[in-house]
Amino acid sequence: MFVIDNAWYAVLDARELRERPVAARRFGLELVFWRTGGGVAAAVDECPHRRAKLSPGRVRDGCIECPFHGFRFDGAGACTAIPAHPDRPIPKAMALRSIEAREAHGLIWVWTGRGEAGDAPIPFFDFDGWSWAGSQLAVPVNAHYTRTIENQLDFTHLPFVHRTTIGRSLPPVMDVVTEVEGDRIRAYLRDQPDGAFLELLGPNVWRLKTGPTWQFLAFAPIDEEHMLYYVRTYQRMVTVPGLAWLFGALTRFTGKIILDQDTPLVESQPPGEARLRNGELLVPSDGPIIAYRRWREERRVEVPWGRAELVPPERLVAAK
Ligand code: FES
Ligand SMILES: [Fe+2]
Repeated sequence: MFVIDNAWYAVLDARELRERPVAARRFGLELVFWRTGGGVAAAVDECPHRRAKLSPGRVRDGCIECPFHGFRFDGAGACTAIPAHPDRPIPKAMALRSIEAREAHGLIWVWTGRGEAGDAPIPFFDFDGWSWAGSQLAVPVNAHYTRTIENQLDFTHLPFVHRTTIGRSLPPVMDVVTEVEGDRIRAYLRDQPDGAFLELLGPNVWRLKTGPTWQFLAFAPIDEEHMLYYVRTYQRMVTVPGLAWLFGALTRFTGKIILDQDTPLVESQPPGEARLRNGELLVPSDGPIIAYRRWREERRVEVPWGRAELVPPERLVAAK
């Protein structure tokens, strides 16, 4: 699967990750996530010893312990214990395909670069003064995540797909303005510069300003034909905690109704990643989609944790 190079991707709801390791399919790979004490860790969910899944294992001293023979691996993927041979040195090759991970804004993020993330910032919006209920909805779709991003950059589907909801009062004639600034793609209608506008912050978070709320989406890539939305609403009208929670629950519910109107259309498009030249005939009102495809085309690379290198067996056997 292809991803944006050197990017922080939102991939998991941070609340899902507690004391136990969590298994999740992301980027076409089975991954495992766990809490190390000081932070979060992620790796391909396969023990380098005999290739069993690590995710049914447990967390001990911040390390994940394989449920098969008890080998332990730290947050950077290094093996810290081989219980059968406590006195032998541990071969370097006995390591996980580990993935740099962080927790921020109620989400778990992973770094797609081949090198370290260093101080590369997590891409997120400035929601200063706005709050969300702290719980978000997960909505699965049978489509590549790029298709769902494009769907959320598309103004002209509103009066058709959403004619009974958010598109009710919108005319079909639309002059869409697209602005690109670094990893940010912003779009609005020329005759409504102060009206609704939407914004994608690459690689995979999005928001839409409508009236007194922000709708927020994260697009978690599962594989070539599946993705998962994380849906939130930000508001600043209701400040009483219980009421704010109720407001959040209600708006998430409406958000789900609107996504459910989109899903059959998105799932009816050809499967797989949306590419710049894919036989579709785009028109001027598809400006934000064209901008997104161009942005993506320059940055896409094969996912870096794909294949395990075949390590010669003599390097794997613990030295005497
Ligand atoms: S397969 Fe994991 S310790 Fe043996
Ligand atoms: Fe839609």
